[in-house]
Amino acid sequence: MTVLAMTKESPQLAANTQTEIPPVAQAVPRICLVTGGTGGIGSAICQRLAKAGHVVATTYRNEEKAKAWKAEMAKQGYTFHIYKCDVSNFEESQRVVKSIVADLGPITVLVNNAGITRDSTLRKMSFEQWRDVIANDLDSVFNMTRPVLDYMLEKNFGRIINISSINGQKGQFGQSNYAAAKAGMHGFTKALAQEVAKKGITVNTISPGYIDTDMIQAVPENIRQGIMAQIPVGRFGKPEDVAHVVSFLMQDDSGFITGANIATNGGHFMD
Ligand SMILES: NC(=O)c1ccc[n+]([C@@H]2O[C@H](COP(=O)([O-])OP(=O)(O)OC[C@H]3O[C@@H](n4cnc5c(N)ncnc54)[C@H](OP(=O)(O)O)[C@@H]3O)[C@@H](O)[C@H]2O)c1
Repeated sequence: MTVLAMTKESPQLAANTQTEIPPVAQAVPRICLVTGGTGGIGSAICQRLAKAGHVVATTYRNEEKAKAWKAEMAKQGYTFHIYKCDVSNFEESQRVVKSIVADLGPITVLVNNAGITRDSTLRKMSFEQWRDVIANDLDSVFNMTRPVLDYMLEKNFGRIINISSINGQKGQFGQSNYAAAKAGMHGFTKALAQEVAKKGITVNTISPGYIDTDMIQAVPENIRQGIMAQIPVGRFGKPEDVAHVVSFLMQDDSGFITGANIATNGGHFMD
């Protein structure tokens, strides 16, 4: 509807506008849990949510890294609540979720972001490399979502956002473990989205392409250039590109988007 420019001249139109167009929902401060917040993409997600006025908790494994991260974030003006938790461990995840809720209140936004890679062709892949990636990248999604879901159901509101990967969509040489785990997230997302759709809870997946984090910086320059040549927008993604999509999906106004996968890859792979 073409609207507001005309309202000063037409009180009747102004009245219509008020009744027919719902007001933009006010942002309610949410308790958000971002797993793996101390990493490249996780940091940007935590910062973006904090800037929007939300309370942000995050989990980590590496104590020293987490302490340094928290200090650096504090220097930049951010207050994050950090909890040691190996998200591949179900009992530990349940315990930590309970502590977060006791400290901060019910979690209504969960970003399953923690993940690892253990690359190898299948012929050379050990069972440990397979198991580690499935446990850290896929089991972790169950481990965190299962306890958090109870609080979302109580509140009749929730946003679950799973950080998958372009390589879960298209596969990648040397990543059968990672591609399987990340593809598994899509099935999880679509099944759970159906189970909780009537409860005000949405479940979505973001599939980042190549994001310029430490991991990409470590790739030799000639290989980096080769990858970049395949990205239509002509650059690697930034962690903030992924954080932007998280901040969109978690909003109250995004309640009609569920079971979706948002490819965030500069056009690198179009499904
Ligand atoms: N970077 C990319 O180009 C890219 C592209 C597509 C998808 N992704 C996905 O995006 C997510 C974030 O990637 P990133 O590049 O930011 O990685 P990153 O910098 O390596 O950060 C990963 C984070 O996950 C945490 N983590 C891993 N396993 C954990 C566990 N079992 N328990 C608790 N924390 C755990 C790490 O904490 P500790 O260091 O304390 O273990 C770290 O904070 C991952 O799921 C990744 O697969 C990344």
